[in-house]
Amino acid sequence: MLIFDSGIGGLSILKTIKMIFPNIHYIYILDNEVFPYGNKTEHFIIHRIITIIKKIKKIYPINIVLIACNTVSTVALSFLKKTFNFPIIGIFPDINAAEKITKNHIIGLIATKKTIQSSYTQKLVYEKSFNNAIKIISTNQLALIAEKKIRKIAFSKLDLKKILTPWLNLSIKPDTIILGCTHFTFLKKEIKESLHLSSSINFIDSRQKMLFALQNYLHKLKNHQNIQQNIFLYSKNDQYLKQLLFFLKKYQFNKIAYINLN
Ligand code: DGL
Repeated sequence: MLIFDSGIGGLSILKTIKMIFPNIHYIYILDNEVFPYGNKTEHFIIHRIITIIKKIKKIYPINIVLIACNTVSTVALSFLKKTFNFPIIGIFPDINAAEKITKNHIIGLIATKKTIQSSYTQKLVYEKSFNNAIKIISTNQLALIAEKKIRKIAFSKLDLKKILTPWLNLSIKPDTIILGCTHFTFLKKEIKESLHLSSSINFIDSRQKMLFALQNYLHKLKNHQNIQQNIFLYSKNDQYLKQLLFFLKKYQFNKIAYINLN
């Protein structure tokens, strides 16, 4: 299985996958050379992801791809599915799930600018706005704060509050928040604190649907264990990458290496 993201966001998904499928082997790509995807063009994202999948497929016998990134999924998944003939699973802001559990019908949706602009999100927001008030925050900064937190680098709480200002100013706050970027799962506590939310707030990070699809495909694939190790590949070697290594320990990768994705 190949799983990838521009940064650490996909690791939050991988953590759950390891719990549900403890024997699965995987290659994780951290495309940190071009982080964040959220400020790239659609053309760039599609081209980049095709390059990644083709490159990895040439080296490793992967037979399933998990796009652990809402930005790539909303912008490129349908295109990628037409390009490759093996299962590719994406992750999307799950507005349907939010609608099912909200009580006050005020739903918060926070995601990267590209995810919010995508026709997938725009269409769903339009449909769901008949019965709910959907309060959107579109930000390319929050993923960077998550990257800092994981590395134990100090980040400004004020910056976080600034990002969340549209919700802070609401007289009635959302009772359900869709974390439409895999990075944001790491910031649940900080988001809750900054907004002074009660503990009954619902966070939806959409991983259930992705994991359900993965489970289905794994059932269908007779031999999905083509890879015998867990490998972590990064596309840029810098100080910032070194600061991540400690966090990676708990994922028990057998190999951590650089890959040229150009
Ligand atoms: N983790 C990615 C997502 O789910 C986005 C971070 C980025 O902008 O690269 O959208």
